[in-house]
Amino acid sequence: MRTKVMLVWLCGVLVAYWISPVSPVTEASTATQPTTTKCPQETLDGYDWPSISAGTNTSHSGCPGVTLGTVYRFCRSDATWEVADYTRCVSPTLASLNTQTGNLDGSPSGYLHLAEDLQNASKPAKLVVSGDLLTAVTIMYALVEDSFLVTCNATSAVVMNFTEAVLISARQLLDNSYSSLWTETHQVSDVDAIFTFLEKLDSFYGDVLSCFSLVNITEYSLVTENLDVAIEVFQANTSEAFIFPSNSNSDANQATVPVAVFTEADTSGHTAACIVWYKSASSLLPSTDINARSAHQDGQINSDVVSVTLHPTQVQPFNEPITLRFSHHQAGNNPVCALLDVSLTSSSVWSDSECETVSTTSDVTTCNCHHATNFALLTTLNDDDTVLKVPLNAIMVTGVVISLLFLVATFVLLLYVNRSLESDWALVVKCFLLTYIIGQITFLSGINPQKIR
Ligand SMILES: *[C@@H]1O[C@H](CO)[C@@H](O)[C@H](O)[C@H]1NC(C)=O
Ligand SMILES: *[C@@H]1O[C@H](CO)[C@@H](O)[C@H](O)[C@H]1NC(C)=O
Ligand SMILES: *[C@@H]1O[C@H](CO)[C@@H](O)[C@H](O)[C@H]1NC(C)=O
Ligand SMILES: *[C@@H]1O[C@H](CO)[C@@H](O)[C@H](O)[C@H]1NC(C)=O
Ligand SMILES: *[C@@H]1O[C@H](CO)[C@@H](O)[C@H](O)[C@H]1NC(C)=O
Repeated sequence: MRTKVMLVWLCGVLVAYWISPVSPVTEASTATQPTTTKCPQETLDGYDWPSISAGTNTSHSGCPGVTLGTVYRFCRSDATWEVADYTRCVSPTLASLNTQTGNLDGSPSGYLHLAEDLQNASKPAKLVVSGDLLTAVTIMYALVEDSFLVTCNATSAVVMNFTEAVLISARQLLDNSYSSLWTETHQVSDVDAIFTFLEKLDSFYGDVLSCFSLVNITEYSLVTENLDVAIEVFQANTSEAFIFPSNSNSDANQATVPVAVFTEADTSGHTAACIVWYKSASSLLPSTDINARSAHQDGQINSDVVSVTLHPTQVQPFNEPITLRFSHHQAGNNPVCALLDVSLTSSSVWSDSECETVSTTSDVTTCNCHHATNFALLTTLNDDDTVLKVPLNAIMVTGVVISLLFLVATFVLLLYVNRSLESDWALVVKCFLLTYIIGQITFLSGINPQKIR
């Protein structure tokens, strides 16, 4: 009798050990409990953020450096802090340029001066906070939407200088050094900001092409560290394809616009094309946890982004496709060329239905595409280790479940079939079985389902 009491006590200690707070099940249950409804007090970048309720805002009226305005901070509904929101802090220079957009009255020189000022104000390191980036982008939109290029009543020098000032401003705004400003903008202000920016530039290229054709500018090119532009205006009798970059290696980016794409010319008998390679854009795109639509079931962006614009716009889809060759940024599989369309209502801004893959190697993929817009290459990446985690976890769980079934069966057998043999030995075995069963249940329920996916 004494030994029996001792054994039951021992069993109790073992069970208590297994379900003690170090086991994952207790951790998981405390994590899911909404114990706190306030964001904690915190100091970040020199700002003191007081504890506030989940789902509310707080603000500071002082902005960093020379910028003026208010910094906001949002406490999310799960009582964690959002990043600080500097989108309403603006440098005086940019604020002043922004008010000048109201004076744009259609005169080409007004557009040219403002574009040159924007080029000056958006040089690397000139923008300090996300509010500067948003203001510069707003000024850019005022310059390129319905600009004087549409009526094109200007000299070729003004048209050329204006186009170049806008392109250099765009190149500067897309500089990698501004990636943190883009990220913050995507996080707190507009998840589609950079996609919209690329699409507005596309319509600007269309206006540039039609005006170049009118003022007889026949070609233009600009090669920078993160943006390469080539524009060509063709006579109706042209027979050569437009290729950019024309002298690139066989494993480098290249876009080819065949003559046969042009089925109609403009009133002056010209056709024209613009090809732009954005070499930094893919690293500035919003991450998929900020903007789920930037992801695609076919994979991730694994190339530079290219824009192709034609003048006149031509009937789309083209019978004769344009050809795009993308150099891979890293090793990847299942390449698919996709076009960017922010207005798509589907789950992704990328559409894979307008291009066919012509050829692919480990370094480069060539596609034929039947539209003129922004394109990039999507691939599944080789270093994606989440693919490996799924089967491993599944195998582990299956193994534990099977062993659990056998343990329970043995326990039940000992309880009922062997009831007459009520010895100390049987009690010890039952206790260990029970402890082990509890341990395995603890393990199973402690696995975070998000990690298995
Ligand atoms: C937080 O403040 C910003 C700026 O005033 C406002 O646009 C937003 O709606 C506010 N959000 C909440 C939940 O109060
Ligand atoms: C650009 O800024 C410099 C000084 O930083 C100034 O001297 C120059 O005149 C400016 N150019 C334009 C077009 O505003
Ligand atoms: C074109 O600009 C000139 C002055 O720059 C002006 O006199 C003329 O009326 C304009 N033409 C049109 C069609 O707007
Ligand atoms: C265009 O730019 C060039 C070089 O920067 C300059 O020499 C020329 O005066 C400019 N023309 C106009 C009309 O602004
Ligand atoms: C195309 O036509 C232009 C005149 O419209 C002429 O000068 C040029 O030589 C022609 N080019 C070809 C390749 O026929």
